[in-house]
Amino acid sequence: MAFRAIEWLDDSDTLQLIDQKVLPQQVRYLELNTTAEIARAIHDMTVRGAPAIGVAAAFGILQAARSFADAPAEEMQSALQQADAVLRASRPTAVNLFWALDRMKAVWADATDPANLPAALHREALAIEEDDIAVNRAISAEALKILPQKVTFFHHCNTGSLATVDLGTALGIIRSAHEAGHEVFAYLDETRPRLQGAKLSSFELLEFGVPHAIVVDGASAHIMRTQDVDIAVVGCDRVAANGDVANKIGTYNLALAAADNDVPFYVAAPMSTIDFATPDGDAIEIEERDSAEVTEINGHAIAPPDAPAFNPAFDVTPNRLIAGIITEYGIARPPFTDSLAAMRTAQQNA
Ligand code: MRU
Repeated sequence: MAFRAIEWLDDSDTLQLIDQKVLPQQVRYLELNTTAEIARAIHDMTVRGAPAIGVAAAFGILQAARSFADAPAEEMQSALQQADAVLRASRPTAVNLFWALDRMKAVWADATDPANLPAALHREALAIEEDDIAVNRAISAEALKILPQKVTFFHHCNTGSLATVDLGTALGIIRSAHEAGHEVFAYLDETRPRLQGAKLSSFELLEFGVPHAIVVDGASAHIMRTQDVDIAVVGCDRVAANGDVANKIGTYNLALAAADNDVPFYVAAPMSTIDFATPDGDAIEIEERDSAEVTEINGHAIAPPDAPAFNPAFDVTPNRLIAGIITEYGIARPPFTDSLAAMRTAQQNA
């Protein structure tokens, strides 16, 4: 792979991240050495995408453990509690963040032998990282079973290698279809306000030679009405138990446009993004970000000075608009309360 969004450099206890704020103009790597730096990088979207922020947070816990490796057990526990709290506060919507921190916490919370904690947490963080790669491959393999030979996709935001450890979810499906010999074309929503589609998804598809076009978000209904779009596929930050899906703002609009044009709308979701504790989309906290993301582009004002703006970063697509949720255990179909529960059982029995 020509770039890697996230990589643990074990010799120096460093998390290396590609700086997604400056892509595609610059491919710049940052080396983060403290939990606080990682929490900041998640908050300011240096690293972004639900799976990637979960992995980054896991290494943030490891850093805290390594820096208190020689401290008494109580000090180590309080450092880990603090690191856990700081990382949990970094972004609210993507459940992968909390899922990864819960996995790490299961290792440290009741540790009887604190001397072994850094090594145990290292193993768990690496497992979270490696699982992500395997899960993404399995999601693509499930999706390939339903794709026609010639396939035109619609995609929103960035859900590729930059948003995960490797390959990605929805964008991973598009890339995998291309690599498997399908005749692929992808329309990429630019994804205002942060432009992850224009900046990041196009960067990735150019890298892998996948034919595509960036379109403005408002063009999706028109393109679906006038072009042959076979499938819309997006990623997600949290799936509620009933199949309502929180994802990047504009996903709901895309799903409405797809419904009106009989384009099947699919969501690619690792099981780690399905939150069985959240009954429906209304219970998902939607992050609200700085209004300057709306009134400026790349730091350049596009609105009158002091213009008010409102900037919800995610929306909820109701389950009735979703044809299927593609997981590593197969494709869940409506009614999702039942099919997602069946996937969870399959996962528990695996
Ligand atoms: O605000 P972002 O860029 O972190 O939002 C990312 C998305 O909405 C993705 O679609 C989602 O996290 C899935 S990434 C595999």
